[in-house]
Amino acid sequence: MAPVLRIDAVTKRFGAVVAVDDVSIDIGANECVALLGASGCGKTTLLRIMAGLEQPDSGRVFIGDDDVTAAPPYARPVNMMFQSYALFPHMTVHENVAFGLKQDGIKGAELTVRADEALKAVELGDLGARKPHQLSGGQRQRVALARCIAKRPRVLLLDEPMAALDKHLRERTQLELLALRKRLGISFVVVTHDQGEAMAMADRVAVMENGRILQLAPPRDLYERPANIQVARFFGDINVWNGVARSDGAVEIAHLGITVAVDGKHVPGESVAVALRPERIAVAPVGGPGLRGRIEDLVYLGSGTTYFVRTPLGGVVRVLAPNTGTPFAHGESVTLTWPAAALMVLAP
Ligand SMILES: Nc1ncnc2c1ncn2[C@@H]1O[C@H](COP(=O)(O)OP(=O)(O)OP(=O)(O)O)[C@@H](O)[C@H]1O
Ligand SMILES: [Mg+2]
Repeated sequence: MAPVLRIDAVTKRFGAVVAVDDVSIDIGANECVALLGASGCGKTTLLRIMAGLEQPDSGRVFIGDDDVTAAPPYARPVNMMFQSYALFPHMTVHENVAFGLKQDGIKGAELTVRADEALKAVELGDLGARKPHQLSGGQRQRVALARCIAKRPRVLLLDEPMAALDKHLRERTQLELLALRKRLGISFVVVTHDQGEAMAMADRVAVMENGRILQLAPPRDLYERPANIQVARFFGDINVWNGVARSDGAVEIAHLGITVAVDGKHVPGESVAVALRPERIAVAPVGGPGLRGRIEDLVYLGSGTTYFVRTPLGGVVRVLAPNTGTPFAHGESVTLTWPAAALMVLAP
């Protein structure tokens, strides 16, 4: 199926800053793609290019088969909810939602129906007569969302739509947005710098850094098969070990005094970065086979405990263990084991 929105090799500079650097991305029909990355990495700029609010220096933007690179925002079936949105304080909720439609020349019964429908979609059908100051922060956010939905875009661009919400409301709104997407059959591009939110909402996540997409993949692939160290580090505090390939292809990790078998062909002497998620490591009392160490530090987290285990050669391994039995104590000697398949080879 042809993508609904396609960004093809787009670059955007502001003076010396390359805000978006040779980015290509497809948004499928009914798909939710999250743009994830640190502040200033180019998320809003990329969204603005999709919306037509910013012209790329090079590259092209397609909607369906149409090249819309030069098309103004109003000529695109795309709508953007801004990072800092504003409602009109003197208008009711219903009038706020109807305002944009009126500007598009929609009037009479259709205007009312479309505004009603959008408010119902965000579960604000009963609050149409209120003014914005009579709403909670989360409800105001949903009015802004209804205003975007009312225009029935094919693609909805959301810039940090949940930034003003507390954790609980955030989770609920995430689920509502997903249900809404299914019901209305629109595609979403959601900007966030919260990796949990990206994972929870998106079919695919684009991890961005310095205007570039480091990896674009479903959440599980990003977590389990990160393309490089930066992406791996983005999702949790991962152990990254630098090793050297031996002639049999295994990788020797000198600072831990271990050799591990990993996937891939490695030239003898080649340096290889191996990563291991803390939750994939099992910690047991000393005795059985595994990597020996001493618990140097621990952080109690409720459902689990993070242990920092110092190995005899001086390396420290981070372990996240569920708090099922008696937790290990500071200074205790332990043995660490992990399934071979949990080791990931990363590109530098
Ligand atoms: N109109 C502009 N003029 C000059 N520089 C700009 C302009 N808009 C963005 N930039 C720069 O481009 C880079 C990317 O900005 P952008 O707003 O896209 O980042 P972002 O990923 O959305 O960040 P945040 O998470 O803080 O919102 C930044 O270095 C920013 O300072
Ligand atoms: Mg931004």
